[in-house]
Amino acid sequence: MRKPVIAGNWKLYNSTAEAVKLIDELIPLVSDTALTEIVVAPAFTALSAVKKALADSGIQLAAQDCFWEEEGAYTGEVSPMMLTDVGCSHVLIGHSERRQFFGETDKTVNKKLKAAIAGRLTVIFCIGETLAERESGNTFAVLRRQIAEALTGFSETESDRLIIAYEPVWAIGTGKTASEGQAQETHAFIRQLLSELYSPDMASRIRILYGGSVKADNIGGLMSQPDIDGALVGGASLKAESFAAIVRFAEFQE
Ligand code: 13P
Repeated sequence: MRKPVIAGNWKLYNSTAEAVKLIDELIPLVSDTALTEIVVAPAFTALSAVKKALADSGIQLAAQDCFWEEEGAYTGEVSPMMLTDVGCSHVLIGHSERRQFFGETDKTVNKKLKAAIAGRLTVIFCIGETLAERESGNTFAVLRRQIAEALTGFSETESDRLIIAYEPVWAIGTGKTASEGQAQETHAFIRQLLSELYSPDMASRIRILYGGSVKADNIGGLMSQPDIDGALVGGASLKAESFAAIVRFAEFQE
């Protein structure tokens, strides 16, 4: 009932030429997968060229961040309107690297999320606890705060434009994936929380992706869990073969 999503977050990698080459290699490898939504998130500078390379492949385009104002004297920022203008359908908001290195807070995530949705983008809203927060038994409290604050003012009627990505910070780029059990337990908690904050119907419709060292050899186990609806992939999305293998494996599990 929930269509799986596999999204590749390219982070600060790939020139325009490298980005286009990656897309040209990826398209034939995933062209027969119809049951999974595929999204790629290049750096801002490559969005336009990647949009052209994606053509009618069905693969969707995301940016890695956006600002909350449409326009104004905000040097260095990019607005939701500018993202739809270059062909983005999706945007990542609240990635832990933005929280860790660029001062993103639950409040700024809330402003960005609402602006992006108002700008008709689908938001991939990222949450996750640090190792210290998990080890001190605060995982659920942290996720509750991140979700409650970022979704303040968010209406259930916009749920089809919201995807949640649970990315435990300790699993990002470390090769250390959450176990299937840990990930499922946390996804179930998130869905239960959405049910409390909104409704059981809304909670049952929202896609919740797992992120953190997802590879072809662990996606199958993750996707077999009832509350995991896809993945947000970093490192393994930078090579067409490894990203395609994840997409195909996810599709096979459904
Ligand atoms: P890795 O897959 O490289 O661990 O990165 C995960 C991530 O941060 C995706 O947004």
